[in-house]
Amino acid sequence: MATLLDGKKIANEIQSEVAQRVLEYKNHNKRAPHLGIILIGEEGASNTYVNGKINACKAVGFEYTLLQFAVTITEGKLLKQIEQLNKDDDIDGFIVQLPLPKHISVDQITTLIDSKKDVDGFTNHNFGSIVSHQPLLLPATPFGVIELLKRYKVKTKGKHCVIVGASRIVGAPMSLIMVKQGQSTVTICHKFTRDLAEHTRRADILIVAVGEPGLITTDMVKSGAVVIDVGITRVPDTTKKSGFRLSGDVDFENIAPKCSFITPVPGGVGPLTIASLLLNTLKAYEQQYT
Ligand code: GUN
Repeated sequence: MATLLDGKKIANEIQSEVAQRVLEYKNHNKRAPHLGIILIGEEGASNTYVNGKINACKAVGFEYTLLQFAVTITEGKLLKQIEQLNKDDDIDGFIVQLPLPKHISVDQITTLIDSKKDVDGFTNHNFGSIVSHQPLLLPATPFGVIELLKRYKVKTKGKHCVIVGASRIVGAPMSLIMVKQGQSTVTICHKFTRDLAEHTRRADILIVAVGEPGLITTDMVKSGAVVIDVGITRVPDTTKKSGFRLSGDVDFENIAPKCSFITPVPGGVGPLTIASLLLNTLKAYEQQYT
């Protein structure tokens, strides 16, 4: 049976470390780090994620400001808001919760965020820094995954890492982080990949970030592999009070017995994404304010 990679436990460790640092700054009469969060519309999943981020800020002693807008906000108004946050010396970092409404371009928005305050690590500048000797603010989810692997002492050097999903937020930066920090050999698969199973079966480390429950079945995983499931999809479930449960991309029940390490969903990668956001916000604060 695999060792469970307990993201919640590691995220709690990181939270305690961040809280300790914040306390030290406050004891030296410095103000707390301050995170801005832009949330657009009423999408249930985004609301849940933002609540998680706010609770984490409270837990570590950060200040936070939530700016909420109707789904009808124009791109121009949002861009103005971002310019204001860029100029605001009291805000160390901010995020724009995704997804955005269709009439707003994610590329336009991320291009305008000041890279020093880009605590999601979405700007081209921060993305590019992954391959430099001095990485800046790393994309939160991939940063969380590498941190999880490091803290569980999972060997990555020289291993074959197969990533399923090539998104800008997860798959693409994950591949660079595994090459540079993990020193792994990397294969990236995406929706156009033929014979997906042929690739996934060769993985020593399999990272899946697609958002398709049940995509990865037992026959697609090598015995002894490390399996990281980044997918979090709401699946209707009448036995739950909320009416849904969260599901990853991996058939956890059947795959766990044959692999060496595996992340659960929920409680795996999700909490690490928030922990990375805290680490990035602390770093942005230290670089601009202290
Ligand atoms: N939506 C899903 N994941 C993320 C994330 O890491 N950051 C932001 N801003 N939005 C998201």
